[in-house]
Amino acid sequence: MRQKIVAGNWKMNLNLEEGKALLMEIIDANLNENCQIIVAPPFIHLSQFGTMLNQSRISLAAQNCHQQELGAFTGEVSASMLKSVGVECVILGHSERRSYFFEDSMSISYKVNQVLSQGMRPIYCCGETLMQRQENQHFEIIRSQIREGLFHLNEMELLNCVIAYEPVWAIGTGETASPAQAQEIHSFIRKTIAKDFGELVADNISILYGGSVKPDNAKELFNCPDIDGGLIGGASLNVDHFAAISHSF
Ligand code: PGA
Repeated sequence: MRQKIVAGNWKMNLNLEEGKALLMEIIDANLNENCQIIVAPPFIHLSQFGTMLNQSRISLAAQNCHQQELGAFTGEVSASMLKSVGVECVILGHSERRSYFFEDSMSISYKVNQVLSQGMRPIYCCGETLMQRQENQHFEIIRSQIREGLFHLNEMELLNCVIAYEPVWAIGTGETASPAQAQEIHSFIRKTIAKDFGELVADNISILYGGSVKPDNAKELFNCPDIDGGLIGGASLNVDHFAAISHSF
């Protein structure tokens, strides 16, 4: 059975004091016990958050890592460093990384390997831009992002990955993909996986939707058969919204 997941991507928000205050609120909040809760703060908070979440069922995620194991890469953070402070999942290939930092699926595939080699779970993001959707290229774009980033893995490795579909035009814009639009892509992702890895693998991978998920639209989205939860940006910075979203299954 695939897992239900609600993951909060804090992006570059909240200093350490603010972040600790929000994390304490999340720890104390009434969260849905039937889904996995993940929090992805900025790198600089991870070490302290790892300690704070030690006895908690909330999982800690990073928002990125470097594609090499170690070495002369000034300003970068390796997967093994993340592992050493208690990180369990790493968001990879977020569209903001792809567009502002020129990451492509090939380099992200190396990051996927690093994360898996440390026994952590990649949350691999894919998604089309508005122009790509208007030109009806979205299926092809998603297929190639998934293939290039993940299809070098074996079955067991792929089953350790979570996929997040985040249409770029819906991120931080207040515009959400309709449940039908999201379901269509999620089902397409599952079929693409099934073709190469079989139905069993495809059925067991959690595929999250991301892009302006809010308490008032989460239920409709999470009700779709191929949507297993959400990767939440803005709304994850508010404990009440984040908790309400977790109860939307
Ligand atoms: P948003 O961000 O919920 O603020 O649209 C989602 C994401 O980028 O993961």
